[in-house]
Amino acid sequence: MTGRIIGLGSYIPKKVVTNDDFAKFLDTSDEWITERTGIKERHIADHITEKPSTMAVEAAKKAIEDAGIDPSQIDLIVTACTTPDLVIPSMSCVVQEAIGATENCGCFDVNSACPGFVAAWNTVQSFIETGNSKYALCIGSECNSNFANFQDRGTCILFGDGAGAAVLKADGTAKPNQFIMRSSGARGGCLRCEAARQPDRWEEEGFKTATSFYMQGREVFKFAVTEVPQIIKDLSEKFSFDLENDVDLFILHQANARIIEATAKKLGIPRDRFPMNIMNYGNASSASIPMLLTQLKQEGKIKPGMKLVMASFGAGLTWDANYIVY
Ligand code: ACO
Repeated sequence: MTGRIIGLGSYIPKKVVTNDDFAKFLDTSDEWITERTGIKERHIADHITEKPSTMAVEAAKKAIEDAGIDPSQIDLIVTACTTPDLVIPSMSCVVQEAIGATENCGCFDVNSACPGFVAAWNTVQSFIETGNSKYALCIGSECNSNFANFQDRGTCILFGDGAGAAVLKADGTAKPNQFIMRSSGARGGCLRCEAARQPDRWEEEGFKTATSFYMQGREVFKFAVTEVPQIIKDLSEKFSFDLENDVDLFILHQANARIIEATAKKLGIPRDRFPMNIMNYGNASSASIPMLLTQLKQEGKIKPGMKLVMASFGAGLTWDANYIVY
């Protein structure tokens, strides 16, 4: 048994923040942001009705509706989130209650920064492949704006908020989940955010700003354009498929259009097989891949049987890639 996507859904916050909006209070411009990142606008949560947990619920409801199943059939919920509104209970438990899943449903969250959705996917697949789940919800939901420092022009312009969800159904005819996951704690210092609630540290110089995203952009950029193409190559060798002929679309984490373009170039694959929505949503961290999958389904650009490579990278450092049949 392997999980196959039978439903997709997303929730995008209503408020749109354009590059020109940032230029009103930061020394930046639409031209700089567009040229360096490909981003034109992003959606920012209102933090009252739109939080990681409420967005996860809305995305999950849409994915279940799309799957055409009853919520009582869901027996596992795994949510990826690095920017939660709740420490406990887990976001997955909040989703369980809101959708009306039964108490036979296992619920927990994973924290793996931007690659979190792929990490959650692999976790869900392991449950399905060992016979411990038949219908699972895999979610990515993020409010990056909770942790962005809006005085730091090098980071705040990158991020957006949102959520995406997939319903996976155990399928005896699907090929096994094929993936590679890698991490480097040793290189993690270039992308950090400390927990704010450490009272004994409030007096430390720089502690307050350390509770917002800290990023050495160039380091992260170099890491991404090196490791993402490499892990995709390694995936194709490990599972004996040809990148040119055996992959319809490459679904990459939407962090920077230049990173995606560089990956396509290094792999020698035409850029049009790397769909992007970063121009409208920015970097939505672990929500970016399920948001993109949902959009592609709604636009009729992914169809059953299509072969996809998903790949993501982010804080940790962590990076991963999967080869799946939609
Ligand atoms: N507007 C105008 N100028 C800016 C801005 C801005 N928004 N941001 C930075 N600059 C300036 C810098 O201050 C610097 O000026 P200086 O030369 O006078 O010092 C200059 O632009 C160049 O800065 P760099 O940081 O070297 O610019 P770079 O071309 O590397 O682009 C960027 C910065 C867009 C952040 C890029 O490095 C990048 O995308 N890195 C990867 C980020 C990423 O993908 N992060 C993933 C996070 S995932 C997670 O897990 C949370």
